[in-house]
Amino acid sequence: MGSDKSNKVLIVVLFVFIQLAKPGDAKLSEKLARNNTESEGTREEKFLSLFSIVRFPNVVCTATNSYNGTCLTSAECTANGGTASGTCASGFGVCCVVTIQTCGSSTSLNNTYWQNSGFSSAYTTAGQCSLFVSRASSDVDQLRLEFLTFTLAQPDSATLSTTGQCITDSFTVSGSANIVPAICGSNANQHMYVNIGPGTSTVTLSIITSGTTTSRYWNIRVIQIPQNTDYTAPDNCLQWFTEAAGTLVSFNYQYAAAPIVQHLAYQDYTMCIRTNQGFCGVKYALCTPTASYPYGISTIAAGTVATGTVMDSSCAYDWLQIPCVTDQANSIVTSVGAMVGCASKLCGILGFTVTTDSTTATTSLYSYRRPFEVRFYTDSKEFLVTAAEAENYGFCLTYTQQPCLSTVTNG
Ligand SMILES: *[C@@H]1O[C@H](CO)[C@@H](O)[C@H](O)[C@H]1NC(C)=O
Ligand SMILES: *[C@@H]1O[C@H](CO)[C@@H](O)[C@H](O)[C@H]1NC(C)=O
Ligand SMILES: *[C@@H]1O[C@H](CO)[C@@H](O)[C@H](O)[C@H]1NC(C)=O
Repeated sequence: MGSDKSNKVLIVVLFVFIQLAKPGDAKLSEKLARNNTESEGTREEKFLSLFSIVRFPNVVCTATNSYNGTCLTSAECTANGGTASGTCASGFGVCCVVTIQTCGSSTSLNNTYWQNSGFSSAYTTAGQCSLFVSRASSDVDQLRLEFLTFTLAQPDSATLSTTGQCITDSFTVSGSANIVPAICGSNANQHMYVNIGPGTSTVTLSIITSGTTTSRYWNIRVIQIPQNTDYTAPDNCLQWFTEAAGTLVSFNYQYAAAPIVQHLAYQDYTMCIRTNQGFCGVKYALCTPTASYPYGISTIAAGTVATGTVMDSSCAYDWLQIPCVTDQANSIVTSVGAMVGCASKLCGILGFTVTTDSTTATTSLYSYRRPFEVRFYTDSKEFLVTAAEAENYGFCLTYTQQPCLSTVTNG
């Protein structure tokens, strides 16, 4: 796990002298000079000296407040600006939780929680607030950002040319080796992977705010991921899902009656699903029934509102890209079923009612191309309902990995 390299040393000296002799008994040296065998009777003095070095790895620990901390000595915790919350390493260490609320701070400690000043109260200051993150150890080349709380201003919906852009508030990452889109709005429970390039020592996370009336909150866990683990994400993946089944949700997706614009402009990133052993494909379905608007990604063409999922060249503005996506389970579709062949881009509204090749309603789509990846692309503006793009709710899709079957050809 890479943590052995950062073992710290704690020197513990226990010096215990137990003098059982009665006060006034001055014959200690005489007694020590004697051969003090058990048969000689009760020993009256015991002398114990223990000098030992205790090593413990700086592993993740669970603090008493249920946050994830790092097991450190009490002094190291203080030096790193952390707060001791419970013990670890059999009591030799403290579970050190680092929460940073001061803008312009730096951290190199794994599992740092970056919060707005005064969290969990709202942050109303306008300006730029940054956290500078450097490697916890030399084998780290990736950060996983977990948005525990993330509420910034919604994207613009007032000006045609900037609708969907993060104008009032935005979260940005600079210094990373991968391109991280700026995001805003509601993003609790989302995550991002940020790659630290070989020539880079610091990645900067920034929240840029304008106006003092918006109620904003953030609490972002910054996890440092070592290279070449089974949970290190591939380089091209902004989001990385390692379970057999899960949910893919666009940034600022809201499971409610649709605001005008939810999905963000200027997005271009890839969600990757780790291929589990024995699995050859992925089934994608709409989130139901909690999502009122599980899927809406721009319209079919200028001035037209699509009534189903549309594909490929009809997706001119914003789209989801899934390699050879088809409505047929367990096959590489060439020309069967409602869809002719397979598609690569999906857009439109409401659901998987395929309109390009057929009007047959479909509730699930499949892809048997590896690696399992879904790219989300949006252009510079997400117009209002009267213009060329509409119904920009974004997407909420469940994914389920599909087992390899010997009776079909899996790609
Ligand atoms: C950071 O902590 C996570 C668990 O929260 C662990 O998986 C990862 O290996 C740690 N990173 C380092 C560099 O020790
Ligand atoms: C202690 O015992 C050893 C042998 O076991 C002996 O050689 C030595 O002289 C004894 N010392 C005293 C102080 O009796
Ligand atoms: C602590 O880490 C575990 C495992 O990654 C995670 O499930 C949990 O939500 C974390 N807790 C906090 C407060 O970050």
